[in-house]
Amino acid sequence: MAIQRVGVVGCGLMGSGIAQVVAAAGFETTVREVNAELVEKGLKGIEKNLNRLVEKGTITDAAKGQIRSRLKGTTSIDDLKGCDVIVEAIIEQLPAKRELFSALDKICPPATIFASNTSSLTITEIATATKRPERFVGLHFFNPVPVMKLVEVVRTIATDPAVYEEMVAFGVKLGKTAVRANDSTGFIVNRLLVPYLLDAIRALEEGVGSIEDIDNSMKLGCGHPMGPLTLLDFVGLDTTYYISQIMFDEFKERRFAAPPLLKRMVLAGWNGRKSGRGFYDYSDPANPKALKF
Ligand code: 3HC
Repeated sequence: MAIQRVGVVGCGLMGSGIAQVVAAAGFETTVREVNAELVEKGLKGIEKNLNRLVEKGTITDAAKGQIRSRLKGTTSIDDLKGCDVIVEAIIEQLPAKRELFSALDKICPPATIFASNTSSLTITEIATATKRPERFVGLHFFNPVPVMKLVEVVRTIATDPAVYEEMVAFGVKLGKTAVRANDSTGFIVNRLLVPYLLDAIRALEEGVGSIEDIDNSMKLGCGHPMGPLTLLDFVGLDTTYYISQIMFDEFKERRFAAPPLLKRMVLAGWNGRKSGRGFYDYSDPANPKALKF
């Protein structure tokens, strides 16, 4: 099957990034949000990103126009029924994802391939909300999606190998390095990343070093683009807490257990950059200040 039309469900941080790279790769792209304000907000963010690329000379103004013309926003799920592939990037909650795919399953032709961008839920459990688990994969992108060069392509025991190969090739067409992963909670990246991030919080709790010193150690000592506590603020402390709970529930291993400090910060609403405060205070976003605990 030649993939031409792609649907993206959810136009938040991840969905808008996915819609942008899909449209930039030449696919007719329809992105769906639950109301007109969210559609507009998502498309505005994409417009801003594309303008930045034009300003930097990465793409021409004409190329930007073509990308925009391939990209349509909608609030109606029915507008996705002509899509060859649908990528879901909605709220990270199993019932919401199952409900969405069950509805899509009823309106889409049998050939349509479904993909979820979940970071920690079990693909098999989402896929079984449909009558086509053999045409269901995980496509896990990384934030910021237009910049990060990886996509994890996840197969379940029910995924048809031909569909899987098609989706690996689709990931490559999006300009990403597509790695193959089985449907194990957290796949490859979060399996390794989450214990590392949680350990950085444990190191802070135990007084091994300050926020800045822990971050600088991993940035300068290991060549990471961001230190772990900065990365936690970037990913979102609430998101990390949620992922850690799912992973702990699956593996029952301490390395996936949320440290008490993480839980308390989330309870206090200190969710990282998006809430203005996490391990750093973002009152002046260009000059974050590490908190003292
Ligand atoms: N959208 C689009 N482009 C962006 C962007 C965004 N949100 N943020 C930065 N960029 C672009 C910039 O325009 C710039 O492009 P250029 O090189 O063509 O000029 C480039 O990225 C570098 O940006 P900056 O110079 O402003 O800043 P940095 O050099 O510090 O890079 C970063 C920013 C790319 C975010 C870098 O710090 C980084 O790679 N951090 C680690 C991010 C990471 O680990 N993400 C994965 C998180 S885990 C995840 O998503 C999985 C989930 O399941 C938890």
